[in-house]
Amino acid sequence: MEQNIKQVLITEEELQNKIKELGEQITEDYKGKDLILICVLKGAVMFMADLAKNIDLPLTMDFMAVSSYGSSTESSGVVKIIKDLDTSIEGKEVLIVEDIIDTGLTLSYLLENLKSRGPKSVKICTLLDKPERRKADIKYDYKGFTVPDEFVVGYGLDFDEKYRNLPYICVLKEEVYSK
Ligand code: XMP
Ligand code: MG
Repeated sequence: MEQNIKQVLITEEELQNKIKELGEQITEDYKGKDLILICVLKGAVMFMADLAKNIDLPLTMDFMAVSSYGSSTESSGVVKIIKDLDTSIEGKEVLIVEDIIDTGLTLSYLLENLKSRGPKSVKICTLLDKPERRKADIKYDYKGFTVPDEFVVGYGLDFDEKYRNLPYICVLKEEVYSK
């Protein structure tokens, strides 16, 4: 895969150090609370797994898959639930774990949807923030890194379903995206 990579933006070590920090902070903030982590599939799967291992609390986990109508790289704001949660979040402290906030449209839909189910609180933990294309006014509570307005892959994030298994965040060469 290396021959397709233009530049590594965040190394494996940088990712793991930051996730350890986030895990410690979340452990402190949710001590004694009934925390449920909600992973937004598939992009957040690597982040969720590593983050959960760094949170020293008896938390639970659930998974949700959503798709936004529109082209693969442009979010439309109309979101369809492909896979819903298996469990109720009523009365629970919900932490949404996301891979990246770009326009913010997906997450603003998800936030309203989850809030309507009667949780005690809903907060957001995003690995990446791409603020340049923001359309919805989204306030997150935990963030890993800010990235420039480029299409990034790796560590869960894909291009055409590939590159999710890279242990770092990178940008692919132009010829790969245009193929
Ligand atoms: P919005 O725009 O609604 O979209 O905040 C968030 C979702 O869009 C995808 N996305 C990306 N996926 N590299 C990716 O692999 C990117 O640079 C990128 N930017 C947005 C992603 O699925 C995210 O959850
Ligand atoms: Mg996603």
